[in-house]
Amino acid sequence: MKKKKKTAPRRQATPRVVIVGFGRVGGAIALGLREAGWDVAVLPRSADSVRKAASLRVFLADHDDLRAAQLCILAVPDSAVVPAMELVEEDLGPSTALVHCSGALPLATFATARTRRPVGSFHPLAAISDPKDSLSGHTVALASTDRTLHANLERMAAALGMSPLEVPETGRTAYHAGAVLSAGLLVALLDGAVSALEEAGLHRDVAIKALLPLSASALRGVSSRGLEKGLTGPVVRGDVGVVQAHLESLPPELGSLYRLLSRRALRLTPALPPETRLALERLLA
Ligand SMILES: NC(=O)c1ccc[n+]([C@@H]2O[C@H](COP(=O)([O-])OP(=O)(O)OC[C@H]3O[C@@H](n4cnc5c(N)ncnc54)[C@H](OP(=O)(O)O)[C@@H]3O)[C@@H](O)[C@H]2O)c1
Repeated sequence: MKKKKKTAPRRQATPRVVIVGFGRVGGAIALGLREAGWDVAVLPRSADSVRKAASLRVFLADHDDLRAAQLCILAVPDSAVVPAMELVEEDLGPSTALVHCSGALPLATFATARTRRPVGSFHPLAAISDPKDSLSGHTVALASTDRTLHANLERMAAALGMSPLEVPETGRTAYHAGAVLSAGLLVALLDGAVSALEEAGLHRDVAIKALLPLSASALRGVSSRGLEKGLTGPVVRGDVGVVQAHLESLPPELGSLYRLLSRRALRLTPALPPETRLALERLLA
């Protein structure tokens, strides 16, 4: 009997992608997809962005790229999603899907522009401050109105080394508020901590240099042991006197921030003696 010839499974071609905007997110997605061997071209707006894309050897999209793209990613500020979409829509192929990168905008945003295309969202849970920032290892929130588009967004996440997360459309605003708390507002909190060290007479640069590894060690603790077991500080130790002294030493605005966050820390600390908990609750009210 003739042996059946073994054939390697055929690899599905990767979707062609056009990215509108070559800012932080557009750049990071473009560079990541190029690295993964995807066919990606970008449509920057300003001459500066065109130069930046060219210097990083990213292809600029032409009319044919727009026509052939399966995915058109709108990596523009939230307020520019609809105008950017209106700018390119006529030039896209009939089945090109439109995808924004906003955490806050619901998919219904596209409905205001009355598009009939599949629409979606690809929101990286990463603080991207430069196009060269890697997206690998991060989570990305996916949403879409179409199964094929969803599968393509999952493939794009995998190509970038990202883990997909499904967020219900009804919870989108709360989800995005949480994302902002854990990134941009974490930086704002660090700024508050730096101010406290400035109150102590230390230079800002010295303070940042000293505090950054401390913050990183706190996050490492949470990563290894979870929120409750990763928490450190006077609230966990039930050190009422230290908390009181801190509150007395801080200027009012920082004191309010300290009080609010300490109340949150108290919720993560169930094992305190009742009288200590009560004393802390009174102090932090
Ligand atoms: N950065 C992050 O950490 C992060 C993380 C997750 C999601 N996001 C989301 O990603 C999206 C892009 O944010 P970003 O941080 O990448 O912003 P960004 O760095 O400011 O880049 C936005 C780009 O959009 C271009 N642009 C602005 N208005 C436009 C218009 N009307 N038509 C065409 N292009 C336009 C700008 O072009 P020029 O510079 O050439 O003028 C700029 O390069 C937003 O929806 C944001 O919420 C950002």
